[in-house]
Amino acid sequence: MKNYLTFLNICHLLGVGLALNIFTNTTERNIDLVTKQQQMNNSIETFANFSGVMNEFESIKNWSRLCNISQTGHTDFNIVCIIIGNSSIKLSEFRNFTDKISSNIRFDLSVTCEDGIIHFPWPFRADKLHRIYIKDCRIKDYRTDYKNPLIDSIPDTIKYLQMENVTTILRIKETYDSIPKADSPITRATECGPENAFSIIRRGKEVIFEDFHNYQLYDFSTALTNFDQYFNIQKRTCLYNNLDVFEISGMVDITRNTINKIVYTDVAENLKI
Ligand SMILES: *[C@@H]1O[C@H](CO)[C@@H](O)[C@H](O)[C@H]1NC(C)=O
Ligand SMILES: *[C@@H]1O[C@H](CO)[C@@H](O)[C@H](O)[C@H]1NC(C)=O
Ligand SMILES: *[C@@H]1O[C@H](CO)[C@@H](O)[C@H](O)[C@H]1NC(C)=O
Ligand SMILES: *[C@@H]1O[C@H](CO)[C@@H](O)[C@H](O)[C@H]1NC(C)=O
Ligand SMILES: *[C@@H]1O[C@H](CO)[C@@H](O)[C@H](O)[C@H]1NC(C)=O
Ligand SMILES: *[C@@H]1O[C@H](CO)[C@@H](O)[C@H](O)[C@H]1NC(C)=O
Ligand SMILES: *[C@@H]1O[C@H](CO)[C@@H](O)[C@H](O)[C@H]1NC(C)=O
Ligand SMILES: *[C@@H]1O[C@H](CO)[C@@H](O)[C@H](O)[C@H]1NC(C)=O
Repeated sequence: MKNYLTFLNICHLLGVGLALNIFTNTTERNIDLVTKQQQMNNSIETFANFSGVMNEFESIKNWSRLCNISQTGHTDFNIVCIIIGNSSIKLSEFRNFTDKISSNIRFDLSVTCEDGIIHFPWPFRADKLHRIYIKDCRIKDYRTDYKNPLIDSIPDTIKYLQMENVTTILRIKETYDSIPKADSPITRATECGPENAFSIIRRGKEVIFEDFHNYQLYDFSTALTNFDQYFNIQKRTCLYNNLDVFEISGMVDITRNTINKIVYTDVAENLKI
């Protein structure tokens, strides 16, 4: 039996501006939203062999310096990155890279930070990205693609997503701009995350603002009123047909009580708080 989850994004501003992702149960199946991901054939060049993958990876500068790539299967590559000191990497560069790789290849990406910063906008979509693991990182630009319609057109290939001990460093403007409004919606990709995933784990997440002093410059109370209206009208149904591990844990703003109230589905039976 399949479960259908309605995703609500509840914004707790309360001085810190956290956004929580909350799931509720519904028996309604919203057919029109079950749009199959449009497969894009944007392979500029397709590589006939694996040395091509390696060579193309070499050309994304900070990535090739900070990461090791290895072939782990016939069509599988593993990329392991340690982002040290003052270094940073951008997901957009990785996207450009995977777009150039032939379509039967899959990438597993593991990023651990040792003081470095990653510019990774949620939901980390990149064609052919099969598994993503992020640990101990400070993430910038996390909300910058919330409304970017192009993200919905990237194939939703992530099967395993895990974030552990990450801190998102937000800017006030980025946060304000990312709040959904009737005439300025967030994308399905943002709202649902990886819908084809077998496992979604978020263990310990913190949010900080790098420019909290700018808070006064934006009218958050109006934005949040619009936000409530948006979710009252727009009831999107996300479908997680493969999901068997779903964990959100270690965040100060989620209490066990809240989760018990809002997560009802047996797909979340592995939920750990
Ligand atoms: C959740 O939905 C399923 C059907 O999709 C239903 O069988 C189940 O009883 C619901 N759980 C709760 C707690 O409402
Ligand atoms: C994708 O594009 C390449 C090169 O333009 C072409 O050879 C290939 O057949 C296309 N694949 C699909 C599935 O359309
Ligand atoms: C792999 O492809 C590159 C460029 O497409 C070519 O130079 C190289 O000879 C190829 N290697 C093999 C083993 O086919
Ligand atoms: C990459 O491999 C080199 C040599 O084995 C190793 O010294 C380095 O720590 C590795 N880097 C990462 C990010 O795993
Ligand atoms: C980072 O940059 C600062 C100043 O730009 C410098 O003092 C520091 O040594 C750098 N750290 C590393 C690990 O490169
Ligand atoms: C690459 O790393 C350097 C520091 O090592 C940083 O200044 C630069 O912004 C990074 N480039 C990108 C595209 O992330
Ligand atoms: C990605 O590719 C596009 C088009 O080729 C280019 O405009 C853009 O600057 C690239 N982005 C990065 C981060 O390299
Ligand atoms: C979490 O990550 C920070 C760096 O961002 C690190 O200093 C800290 O030790 C990590 N905590 C745990 C419990 O791993």
